[in-house]
Amino acid sequence: MIDIHSHFLPGLDDGAPSIEDAVAMIEMAAADGTTHLVGTPHCNSRFAFSLERNRALLGELRARSGNRVELLSGCDFHLSYENLGKVLAAKSIYTLNQGKYLLTEFATYGIAPRTLNVFHQLHLNDIVPVITHPERNPLLQGSGGLKLVRRLVEMGCPVQITAGSLTGHFGRDPQRIARQLLGERLVHFVASDAHDTRHRPPRLSEARAEVEKSYGAEVARALFVENPRAALESEPLPFFPPPKPPTPRRFWFF
Ligand SMILES: [Fe+2]
Repeated sequence: MIDIHSHFLPGLDDGAPSIEDAVAMIEMAAADGTTHLVGTPHCNSRFAFSLERNRALLGELRARSGNRVELLSGCDFHLSYENLGKVLAAKSIYTLNQGKYLLTEFATYGIAPRTLNVFHQLHLNDIVPVITHPERNPLLQGSGGLKLVRRLVEMGCPVQITAGSLTGHFGRDPQRIARQLLGERLVHFVASDAHDTRHRPPRLSEARAEVEKSYGAEVARALFVENPRAALESEPLPFFPPPKPPTPRRFWFF
């Protein structure tokens, strides 16, 4: 499996605090069947981002972990006015494996009215924004938010959900919405968004089994292996089906 979203690079954000913790995360991912891990530290007003520093850490971790897992560079890119300018000026600093795909996280305090324009602008600059874990964002969980996600998928933006949402780790709402998004064919990647080995571990296999149970081995392979591989190679995603119509809301009468 290929994990495109993980905070194992040490000492940079709220992920692994030390190199030993980072190695433990890499080992845990390898034991779970992960072959490629993308280090995606946050880039926001709280955490500064430096590709150079990340590369140095990746080199050190490759040496320490004996190349058991292929380690690559990416960014957990938060959508803000300031960040938009940065990525348009030098996209490959932030994209997955310095290619075309960019993990893009919405703010949780408000969605800019010109969001569709921003995504359009990214596309025009040959960037494919990947919407990260909408199922965990309170602003996207409601029907208006999900409508926006659908609109962005129709524009060609893929969606990444978190493995722990599917397995219920983040509670009932993220799990329900993750399942709904999957059912409506609005999911293109499942990633761990791991931060440590205890509370937010780098495991994908349990979520993969969940997807396999409901949608079959082929869809699971697409979400955990083939689409992530294509993203790392800047290729079009092999699995990008037309979304299904929204699930009708159920009303209860008493
Ligand atoms: Fe993240």
